[in-house]
Amino acid sequence: MKTLRRNIPVAEPDLDSREREKVLDCVESGWISSIGTYVTQFEESFSHFCGAQYGIACSNGTVALHLALLSLKVGPGDEVICPTLSFVATANAIRHTGATPVFVDSEAFTWNMDPEKMAAKISSKTKAIVVVHLYGHSADLNPILELAQKKGLPLIEDAAEAHGALYRGKKVGGIGTLGCFSFYGNKVITTGEGGMVVTQDSHLAERMRLLRDHAMDSKRRYWHTEIGYNYRLTNLQAAVGVAQMEKIEKFLQIRRENAKIYKLLLREVSGLTLFPEATWATPVYWMVSVLVEEAFGISRDSLMEKLKEKGIDTRPFFIPTHMLPSHREEGPYPVSESLSKKGMNLPSSTRLTQEDIEYVVQTIQEIREG
Ligand SMILES: Cc1ncc(COP(=O)(O)O)c(C=O)c1O
Repeated sequence: MKTLRRNIPVAEPDLDSREREKVLDCVESGWISSIGTYVTQFEESFSHFCGAQYGIACSNGTVALHLALLSLKVGPGDEVICPTLSFVATANAIRHTGATPVFVDSEAFTWNMDPEKMAAKISSKTKAIVVVHLYGHSADLNPILELAQKKGLPLIEDAAEAHGALYRGKKVGGIGTLGCFSFYGNKVITTGEGGMVVTQDSHLAERMRLLRDHAMDSKRRYWHTEIGYNYRLTNLQAAVGVAQMEKIEKFLQIRRENAKIYKLLLREVSGLTLFPEATWATPVYWMVSVLVEEAFGISRDSLMEKLKEKGIDTRPFFIPTHMLPSHREEGPYPVSESLSKKGMNLPSSTRLTQEDIEYVVQTIQEIREG
């Protein structure tokens, strides 16, 4: 067994001299708040990367979702469909508008919202659908889009975990009415904290720009006809984003290569179900995920604990939102609940070496063998 060289984090930002140069440029020029050329550059490069015409940068992925929902006039009395198996931000953003999240169970293969179960949740109060591309693998969008179109409902893609992932050859986030991204420090690209909504719809884009900036009239300074928000991204953060965009293709390539190595090695470990790869999807492996099945011999939680002792950081799957005190609802949502109990994310950053991955898998194998 190899000796431990370092603690292996589950995720870490990949920054270098390019980010340093651009941040320094902001410091030296004094353009550190939300006015500045990097914000526009970042909006343009990221929205074009997604195949969308407009990008509205904002403070984080949660407010990206909030802005998206507000632009669609979602509010009190409305219902919004979303998967229960997601980070809590998805449902929180819906609640922030005054609307009610209506949860849908996952389907067992991709772990994303089950389109068949979704159909039964649509009511006369449904105002929008939010689909999540969990852990970097796209949801099966066609049946969801078909249903959305049939019912005349807009589709928001919560692509916070899936920058660059493809669904049938198209970039996620650019497929639905609106696509929302997070640039938190553990994401595929980061700005520290940050978010963006992308869209092809100029009216929605304009609406979100207004709401992002206190709803101040663009022609009359300090004139506000409604209550807006300060959801702006800073030029400093956008500078980091612009530098990250120069490297996004390289990051995605590294993630694909790392996933390939993991897959090859993890196949030899019995009792684990590996991350999904649907024929119609090109995942970005934001997280390298596995399900710890009963056949593995020890529980997911003990495996995580033992890995921690060996310097390997992991994360459990999200707890389905309907099980949280903040959003409690009976359910049951059996597929999401079972995935949540068994699922864990292994170290997944672009900075992993082949040796790190070998060490992780070898340690898992040794723990299994006791
Ligand atoms: C699926 C999903 N949606 C939304 C968010 C919210 O993004 P942020 O943390 O930037 O607010 C996250 C976050 O990390 C996420 O995983």
